[in-house]
Amino acid sequence: MNSVKERMIAPEEIRRQKEIMAYVRDIISRTEGGRKAFIETYGCQQNVSDSETISGMLCDMGYTITKDKQEADFIIYNTCAVRENAELKVYGNLGALKHLKTKKPNLIIAVCGCMMQQESVKEQIRKKYKHIDIVFGTHSLYRFPEILSKVVTDGGRVFDVVSSDGAIAEDLPVKREEGPCAWVSVMYGCNNFCSYCIVPYVRGRERSRRKEYILDDVKELALKGCKEITLLGQNVNSYGNDLEEDIDFADLLEMVCTVDGIERVRFMTSHPKDISDKLIDTMARESKICKQLHLPVQAGNDRVLKTMNRKYTKASYLEKIRKIKEKMPGITLTTDIIVGFPGETTEEFEDTLEVLREVRYDTIFSFIYSRRPGTPAAKMEDVISPEEKKKNFDRLLEVQDVISKEKNLELQGKVVTVLTEGKSKNNDLFLAGRTEGGKTVNFQGDDSLIGQFVQVEITEAKTWSLTGRVVD
Ligand code: SAH
Ligand code: SF4
Ligand code: F3S
Repeated sequence: MNSVKERMIAPEEIRRQKEIMAYVRDIISRTEGGRKAFIETYGCQQNVSDSETISGMLCDMGYTITKDKQEADFIIYNTCAVRENAELKVYGNLGALKHLKTKKPNLIIAVCGCMMQQESVKEQIRKKYKHIDIVFGTHSLYRFPEILSKVVTDGGRVFDVVSSDGAIAEDLPVKREEGPCAWVSVMYGCNNFCSYCIVPYVRGRERSRRKEYILDDVKELALKGCKEITLLGQNVNSYGNDLEEDIDFADLLEMVCTVDGIERVRFMTSHPKDISDKLIDTMARESKICKQLHLPVQAGNDRVLKTMNRKYTKASYLEKIRKIKEKMPGITLTTDIIVGFPGETTEEFEDTLEVLREVRYDTIFSFIYSRRPGTPAAKMEDVISPEEKKKNFDRLLEVQDVISKEKNLELQGKVVTVLTEGKSKNNDLFLAGRTEGGKTVNFQGDDSLIGQFVQVEITEAKTWSLTGRVVD
């Protein structure tokens, strides 16, 4: 395994990128009316986090961020490759930009992220989307200033996609959405190679950030008024495996909990095969760690789990859940499910429903299997029709909707502590915040409550939402 030093992008290289940022800033400061950038992000929190770095670098280079694509001088799509429909959406959006580019020839258009790490995608953009100026992959993120500066100064197209096991770049500027909650990456990449999943191919091998950098980020966020931190990684339970220092994820959680001002700590994602007794005990003991766990099961049948390369069985998964519930009664549990994995029969799918009924998750995130070229499952054969898969998918939702509603109804009439995050997305007259379990509650109140913990009585519990009123 590479040493930690080799897996870090050299500080001199980061300094060089910062010098380039200053150079671009100088050019932009002399441009009349300034320059505006629009960023659209697809996919998981890892991409959201990368977009925060892109945003930080753009601001450093003198751009202001706009939410209106039409007025932008620079447009960037940060893409996801996990399912085909995510990719199709990006192609649709890129096609639509052709018109805007004709109207505004100085517009610079970039695409980055996981999709770009696939050779076929890169080539498609090179040949069929000639209005795209910049393509860069996940391993080139830290070089974004250099890439953009080439296009700003010389024009032309830049393609920067490298295949790599991945490295970590620290000390790049980051611009986060304001608010009391923030995400902090603790590791990148994945070593698990679940047979359906593209992530290890587009994100590289697992690599953990050194604890000093993570704690510095958390302390800085706390100083800015952040109260809730979600630690992020594709498989946080492997945190530290690649570090020289003897540290694991439970140790890291404890350290994050000692930061003054941080009152809630969450994390995702945990792989069921790696969740340790030590982690469960740490979660149970430490009051700042929210009693909420996302534990993707994917499927309930042992044969299917084996072909998925998940490395646990239905029984061993349920045993972990039993332990978790015993140590933390009332914990909020969520999961990911794939329906229609190649070779899964409807009878095998029944085992997934059984897991749902036994665990009684608060919410599930469910997906119909999507073939990802280059992954082992892409070569496996289906045994049921797309229609039957869809029927199974609908049954899954039916079973879960009843459970989700019952779980939410348990909260009706109860008073819960909510961290107010901002205005409600659906109704401007309401505020929204989350419970310790991560459930969103909408309630009426003064804007001064934003960023504050409030006691809220749940007055109406539905399958998908909770409404409440502030109590003293
Ligand atoms: N690292 C996380 C999540 C990765 S991607 C984990 O291990 O759980 C998020 C979810 O997308 C996965 O949990 C899985 O349910 C789903 N997913 C991944 N690849 C998929 C595919 N090819 N088709 C359908 N869903 C997929
Ligand atoms: Fe994909 Fe599996 Fe890694 Fe999650 S653990 S990112 S599902 S390969
Ligand atoms: Fe998608 Fe890449 Fe995340 S493929 S799910 S954005 S790691």
